[in-house]
Amino acid sequence: MKNGGIVQASLVKDKKPRRVRCGRSCCVFFCQFVCLLLVIFFLAVGIAALIIWLVLHPHSPQFTLESAQIPTLQVIQPATQNQASAAATVNADVILSVQATNPNRKISIYYEVITVYISISATQIGKTQVPAFFAGHQNITLLVAEVKAQSVPVQSSVSTLLQSQISQNHISLQARVDVKAKLKIGRYESFSFWVHTRCTLVVTPPSGNITGHLQSHSCHMVL
Ligand SMILES: *[C@@H]1O[C@H](CO)[C@@H](O)[C@H](O)[C@H]1NC(C)=O
Ligand SMILES: *[C@@H]1O[C@H](CO)[C@@H](O)[C@H](O)[C@H]1NC(C)=O
Repeated sequence: MKNGGIVQASLVKDKKPRRVRCGRSCCVFFCQFVCLLLVIFFLAVGIAALIIWLVLHPHSPQFTLESAQIPTLQVIQPATQNQASAAATVNADVILSVQATNPNRKISIYYEVITVYISISATQIGKTQVPAFFAGHQNITLLVAEVKAQSVPVQSSVSTLLQSQISQNHISLQARVDVKAKLKIGRYESFSFWVHTRCTLVVTPPSGNITGHLQSHSCHMVL
């Protein structure tokens, strides 16, 4: 019995877990394994992206400014010049017609928010919202955005500049278009994302009952 007890005790002692002696080589192996997994993962993602791109053949939607009409653009100077606090005000009515094209055969675009802002020398004078719409495959939609400004106060530098531009028949306006959209591919809908576009428009002023119109424009996307 005594012996048995000793044997048992020594057995228990032997069963004590040994520390795995591994250290450096083990770490290297582990790192290589993780690296291999990452490489496989990125390869798979890349191949999937390539297949999706080949199948869907995505094209970015196109927006073309067709025309701009300016029925109203006036600078109203304050009645009393000696009153320092009185600011000049601007009345404006700017109508932009934009052709929105979705060139994709397999991707639809849901435009959730389209907001158009009009500024004169970096002073925002008005904004408007175009109703949300769904652009199916290869859809072309004409959007009309009318921005009205009624007695919007501006700094004297802005009113002076606008006044001189009106007298020169050559007015520079800035338009900002903020679009929130999501894509629909079959039954799958993407997350929503924003696209911001800035445009500079050169327009003629309205005169009498003739509306002002677009002379030239340039737009670029901002991130
Ligand atoms: C484009 O989509 C709009 C809104 O869904 C629709 O009213 C219009 O008829 C479509 N146009 C074409 C050319 O498919
Ligand atoms: C524009 O105004 C002139 C005179 O102010 C008038 O004779 C003419 O009929 C007007 N034209 C239009 C299209 O209203």
